[in-house]
Amino acid sequence: MTSASSGIRPDADWWRQAVVYQVYPRSFADANGDGLGDIRGVTSRVPYLRALGVDAIWLSPFYPSPLADGGYDVADYRDVDPRLGTLDDFDAMVSACHEAGIRVVVDVVPNHSSDQHAWFQEALAAGAGSAERARYIFRDGAGADGSLPPSDWVSNFGGSAWTRVPDGQWYLHLFAPEQPDFDWTNPEVRADFEQTIRFWSDRGVDGFRVDVAHGLAKDLTVPYRPSDQDHLPLNGTDPLYDRDAVHDIFATWRRVFDEYEPPRNAVAEAWVPAPRRVLYARKTELGQAFNFDLLEAPFDPSEFRTIIAQNLAMAEQSGASTTWVLSNHDVIRHATRYGLPEGTDTTAWLLSDGTVPPVDAARGLRRARAASMLQLALPGSSYHYQGEELGLHEAAAIPPADLQDPIWIRTGHQRKGRDGCRVPIPWTRSGPSFGFGSVAPHLPQPADFGRSSVEAEEQSPHSTLHLYRSALALRRELQRGEELHWLDADPQVVAFARHDGWRSYTNFGVNPVPLPPGRVALSSGPVVGNLLPGETTVWMVD
Ligand code: NOJ
Repeated sequence: MTSASSGIRPDADWWRQAVVYQVYPRSFADANGDGLGDIRGVTSRVPYLRALGVDAIWLSPFYPSPLADGGYDVADYRDVDPRLGTLDDFDAMVSACHEAGIRVVVDVVPNHSSDQHAWFQEALAAGAGSAERARYIFRDGAGADGSLPPSDWVSNFGGSAWTRVPDGQWYLHLFAPEQPDFDWTNPEVRADFEQTIRFWSDRGVDGFRVDVAHGLAKDLTVPYRPSDQDHLPLNGTDPLYDRDAVHDIFATWRRVFDEYEPPRNAVAEAWVPAPRRVLYARKTELGQAFNFDLLEAPFDPSEFRTIIAQNLAMAEQSGASTTWVLSNHDVIRHATRYGLPEGTDTTAWLLSDGTVPPVDAARGLRRARAASMLQLALPGSSYHYQGEELGLHEAAAIPPADLQDPIWIRTGHQRKGRDGCRVPIPWTRSGPSFGFGSVAPHLPQPADFGRSSVEAEEQSPHSTLHLYRSALALRRELQRGEELHWLDADPQVVAFARHDGWRSYTNFGVNPVPLPPGRVALSSGPVVGNLLPGETTVWMVD
């Protein structure tokens, strides 16, 4: 499949300022009526994505998976989960997207496989010291009889990062026990992933999102890691994350990406301090790295200003463009975050089913609309998670029996996990799953979800869906270059110009301020008279 026969023009820089829409396939659209979203479901919604105006979609994993971690436990990197379709369905989806001028980015999960992957099953069968075990990280245990884990490393999902197998050895998993970590010093592992990248690139995929990119190189000689591991400074010396050796791996990937015309691009998921991100984004490596700073920030003008300035400066250093993101499948939706009192313990809030403290839903949505418009005015690529264009809130009250996230079990029910942002999309006002499919969905939807459905929002001129459509269309029309110039404004207002013809003002305060000069091209909320209301963004043109 070539892009020449499609609605997209070959362009090596397409990603620099792309609007990328994240599809979480199992929760997007269910075409075959089994309660689980699928690839044909995505294809059926290409007209919707086109009308929305996105440049690309990024698909979270759709590969065969026992779903111990929402598909991030991959049993076969070069196939489609039969519950989600076939490779032919995938090809048809890519064609439909390309015809519609939408590029396709897929997730690649190199840190770990599923424990059902053929290699891990072979490793279990082959025994200690075998070549099969050497593709993963097996070690003998500590203590006189080896019954203690080799180190006190802790899994990101809670509990030990080591699990013992029946013959007594232990294997490393930075996430769930069903997600054994690969040993990236093994050339077979490297070669296999190069094959995977070629496999999807040959099928017409335009780019990759690289899961846990900062985790591939580990220093197993360090036996002990303090349990406050999340707070260690990452600077290339941590035994598990962000070690300098990962860059050697991505340099080889870049050589594969560059075999294609146009070259494939990739974006690193690397939760590392801002200055370290530059390394992953180099032209000689993945090309871009996720910047999660706005996603982690409160709704605060000075925080936003600092983050924007810092990330634009770093983008200049790496030559990449930066990436903005407010929501994804791992965090509480931003409409909800912004409706909680600042400093809320979100873990406790989720455990209370979203009741303590209560969310100010209207305020959260008002702020989310303002923040998303600000995001879309920034230079760089803009990532948007499915459903944020409907202003969806977190589904915080999923009954414990329905929770799927391994975090819930692994933490002994101390953390509820991420299912609340992964609830299937409401397409219609009513129906067994609000138009997601024809039967009950795999995760229960809130009873009032129909009010935020595509059908309901299509009919409401001031809906968040219409706001996103207008913002994406205007961005496409107004955007020239990658510059940003700060404008003088009230301290509560984040104001900048992309160029003379396009200026963005966000009033983070609650009180109105005078409306800046020019014509309002778009606003995230009603503008009355000559005032810019609180918690509102306006885009001004001449
Ligand atoms: C990051 C992914 O975004 C998340 O959903 C997943 O659980 C972990 N990586 C492990 O693959």
